[in-house]
Amino acid sequence: MSPALTLTVNPAFRVAPVRRRTFGAFVEHLGRCVYTGIHEPDHPSADEDGFRTDVLELTRELGVSSVRYPGGNFVSGYKWEDGVGPLEQRPARHDLAWHSTEPNTVGLDEFMAWAKKAEVEPMYAMNLGTRGVEEALDVLQYANAPQGIELSDQRAANGSPQPHGIRMWCLGNEMDGPWQTGHKTAEEYARVATEAARAMRQEDPDLELIACGSSNSQMPTFGAWENTVLTEAYDFVDMISAHAYYSEKDGDQASFLASADDMDYFIDSVVATADHVRAKLKRDKRIMVSFDEWNIWYQHRAESRPPSGDDWPVAPVLLEDVYSAMDAVVFGNLLISLLRHSDRVASASLAQLVNVIAPIMTEPGGRVWKQTTFHPFSLTSRHAKGEVLDVRLQSPTFENQRFGTSTSGDAVATWDEETGDLTVFVVNRDASGPLDLGVDLTAFAGLELVEALTLHHEDPYVANTADAPDTVTPQKNDTIALTDGRLTGELPAISWSIIRLSRTGA
Ligand code: AHR
Repeated sequence: MSPALTLTVNPAFRVAPVRRRTFGAFVEHLGRCVYTGIHEPDHPSADEDGFRTDVLELTRELGVSSVRYPGGNFVSGYKWEDGVGPLEQRPARHDLAWHSTEPNTVGLDEFMAWAKKAEVEPMYAMNLGTRGVEEALDVLQYANAPQGIELSDQRAANGSPQPHGIRMWCLGNEMDGPWQTGHKTAEEYARVATEAARAMRQEDPDLELIACGSSNSQMPTFGAWENTVLTEAYDFVDMISAHAYYSEKDGDQASFLASADDMDYFIDSVVATADHVRAKLKRDKRIMVSFDEWNIWYQHRAESRPPSGDDWPVAPVLLEDVYSAMDAVVFGNLLISLLRHSDRVASASLAQLVNVIAPIMTEPGGRVWKQTTFHPFSLTSRHAKGEVLDVRLQSPTFENQRFGTSTSGDAVATWDEETGDLTVFVVNRDASGPLDLGVDLTAFAGLELVEALTLHHEDPYVANTADAPDTVTPQKNDTIALTDGRLTGELPAISWSIIRLSRTGA
């Protein structure tokens, strides 16, 4: 007998409705994300606008709801005007964030054309690093104003007569980070973000505006930054951003497997700070979290090091991390954490979509394939429907350096009352062995098991490649069975599973 993981799922344990925006992603002008990622006019699959249709197909299959653009660190030195208008008049410029040359072949209008084809909602990040209120208004008017003023007429002349209708706007990117072009103190940022937001709301009061939170929960100013920024910007913004990247460091596998504990802590802390400001200012409105960068990222590896010296390449190979089976399990657990915080996480963006720390990989002129992380994302996006349900969990634990003691199992469920679909997402994040799963579903009448899939590999470090793209894929878990409202089965060590049930007609 293996140690037992016991879950209790009940329709009364409601957290919030599943939000489609939880399944956002991110396209930055970084490495090969844009050029030879989404856009490659010479590729055999390219459409009339130069977009790779093989990547478009996988983006739709991934189930991406929204896409943040154009950065990231890139945006803090970006001039949006460089990327619109006749191609032959667009300047090439140095991108200081990634020490690359930006050819500006793709800009706002091209991205919006791509977003339409990919069937995703855009989220546009503005430059508050080297620029300010004036640029914020200009790019907003160019994108969203109906024809009849200079900037919207310019957009129409550039081929987009209809307003783009972008609702979500990020007020800069990671402005607390000393690596950011135009990095600011909390006070400096609070000022410019508030003034940009106030002006943008004069143009359109219904926008959804996102202030920069701390770049990660390890920043020395984490908490204090959110407090200062929200104290000034509270009435003008809707969300505050959170960013987090995880990786196995110095062979500490156990802490890596427990990464979702940090995401839980991070979200809870940002929410606590936002609610502290709410109480202080005596406001009714609640600030939500935009978790607009999250992923596994091996930042110390050579592929994350930007070029240097006189080398300013166009679309270099950068951040092309290759994800293992274990990475996909941790990744699936991060999705569980995001879902269970659906009451306060209003939007999230997987960073990034193609080639750059991405679920989709391409060869220039060649193949496209799915990384291991593609699978938990697409299955969660497709099957998380209705209401998010908190899951009561009795679990063995394991020790790790970073968090002390963590539960071996972690889970969340979603319940669609209308269709009768119940889905349980569960991980065994303990490397020491399998768990005997028992799920009490007696609070639901007449369920039948539809499908149980488990992502696991005997070698947790094995990955998918262009030559062997299906090395790690979710497989049918034949041990899972449903008897008298109780699910039982086995979850292998270091595994992520999705268990789908549905109400029978009876
Ligand atoms: O996603 C890669 C980089 O990570 C982004 O450009 C930046 O915002 C973050 O530090």
